[in-house]
Amino acid sequence: MCGIVGYIGHREAYPIILNGLKRLEYRGYDSAGIALFDGEDIKLSKTKGKVNDLEKKIESEISTNGTLGIGHTRWATHGVPNDVNSHPHYSNSGNLVIIHNGIIENYESLKKELLKRGYSFASDTDTEILINLIQDIKEKENVKLGKAVQIALNQVVGAYAVAVFDKEKPNEIVVAKLGSPLAIGIGDGEFFIASDATPFLEYTKNAIYLEDEEMAIIRKHKDVKIRKIKDDSLVNPYVQELQMNLEQIEKGGYDHFMLKEIFEQPSAIKDTYRGRLLSKEAIIKMAGVEDNMKKFINAERIIFIACGTSWHAGLVAEYIFEDLVRIPVEVEYASEFRYRNPVIKENDVVIAISQSGETADTLAAIKLAKSKGAFVFGVCNVVGSSIARESNAGAYTHAGPEIGVASTKAFTTQITLLTLIALRLARAKGTISSSDYRLHLLELEMIPEKVNDALKSEAHIKKIADIYKDVHNFLYLGRGYNFPVALEGALKLKEISYIHAEGYPAAEMKHGPIALIDDNMPIVVIATKKGHYDKIVSNIQEIKSRKGKIIAIVTEGDTSVKELADHVIEVPETLESLTPLLTTIPLQLLSYHIAVMLDKNVDQPRNLAKSVTVE
Ligand code: M6R
Repeated sequence: MCGIVGYIGHREAYPIILNGLKRLEYRGYDSAGIALFDGEDIKLSKTKGKVNDLEKKIESEISTNGTLGIGHTRWATHGVPNDVNSHPHYSNSGNLVIIHNGIIENYESLKKELLKRGYSFASDTDTEILINLIQDIKEKENVKLGKAVQIALNQVVGAYAVAVFDKEKPNEIVVAKLGSPLAIGIGDGEFFIASDATPFLEYTKNAIYLEDEEMAIIRKHKDVKIRKIKDDSLVNPYVQELQMNLEQIEKGGYDHFMLKEIFEQPSAIKDTYRGRLLSKEAIIKMAGVEDNMKKFINAERIIFIACGTSWHAGLVAEYIFEDLVRIPVEVEYASEFRYRNPVIKENDVVIAISQSGETADTLAAIKLAKSKGAFVFGVCNVVGSSIARESNAGAYTHAGPEIGVASTKAFTTQITLLTLIALRLARAKGTISSSDYRLHLLELEMIPEKVNDALKSEAHIKKIADIYKDVHNFLYLGRGYNFPVALEGALKLKEISYIHAEGYPAAEMKHGPIALIDDNMPIVVIATKKGHYDKIVSNIQEIKSRKGKIIAIVTEGDTSVKELADHVIEVPETLESLTPLLTTIPLQLLSYHIAVMLDKNVDQPRNLAKSVTVE
């Protein structure tokens, strides 16, 4: 979590950093701060709250001149969100200043040593310990800032993306990374630093993504020198051309990123299968899969590892893979997988799913699986992310930047990509007939249009949201392919509206949750025509007899459920395996509108952050 930004060059640093922090606010938003070098001294301002609060504070607190600066937006780990714990942090000398995304795990022992040496600490953060360790080394060893950072980081256990500067040498910024992302934008005699490339998109399309255990000394008007932190060896920088554009990271007329991203799903899904699904030729082409076909074909088991919404996509994939590819599948929470002693064999294929590609638990689970000999395939959205790089092979969802903290298009594009993989493997293994395969391709190709149709129910869903916005509990039920959708619907509602919601397989209801049902309880039931339709109609009847309020997601033209439900929301008909791509849409819209009506911060729900780079 946390977003970091920096600038060194010929422009005024403040507007670049401030705007950059606004773009990175999705990474953490409980406090923010900026440190600028104005030609003589460091000007630092920080506050609990959002970047807008910081902006107001800065106006009355410091002058904003200077062509060098760093900024931070925080998701608290060590120390509550308050002004003092906000970044940047000074060293005791007041000469050095740091921003940090990550966790220094051995901070206590480092702190003890520094206390003995006379250092004092104003905050409860691990970051303040790190900057004083750097100062201590710099003075003790009489070395330059870069060297001091390097020596300090070799003593540190944990994860970090840091940027440090020294007011005595205000022509350079030192950055380093392990476990948290860090991109360097290369301009003409100017350099940008950020947790992702969005803060500098309008200035340059050239970026270097630091690898783990690398540091860079960035010198004004000069160059970027990258070294390995461990052995000091020089690294040849690889400058990438960014494919993103500004439009993708702006709200584009929508009130919230979440709504924009919900409505982007038709095009995002198309982008996921573009160039991969060739329906005329009845071909699925994916280099990452083709190049590793033997591994997939010989897999005795597929294990999906992921967190949150991505884990739900893995659950949908479990149904698709077992159904079509006939390979046993397990779906694991990365956070649990990494800390038990899982049985992993060399013939296991692990598919790691992550929108951000930075989720710490998923990354650690990948490392564990690899260490036990498994082949790891990454399904990520963010190009060049840590998970994408750590995996043996992979494929991108190409959903475009997802900025709303609540995942929407990430979910449907992950399912689209996983469906493509399943279909390709099923074809290769001969577990799907040629007619069924062709039908799947044609239907998948029609999904964007059908998602578009599903989105047309927004006004109707808004009315339903208005009726139920004040309840305290929701239940979501689904069966088969739509059980994970029920889980996802409940997650969407709770994370942005703070209404308690639970997702359940509909048939499990009678084993406990049915006790919750009374005439105040809204129950969202996914009851599309294909699959277990009759069974779910029986479940609806059970709810009805207990006076629960039923909001049913049904297939267009359905009449049976209509007679029983209090409200129905229609989605177009498709193959059973593809229904999650449609049934998810009304659930996203329902949560969105309830949260807006409750006046919640939809894009930045409390206590959350977009990428969870801490355990
Ligand atoms: O970036 P990832 O897909 O690895 O993130 C995993 C979860 O943190 C994420 O899906 C989270 O659950 C969503 N914000 C939920 O909407």
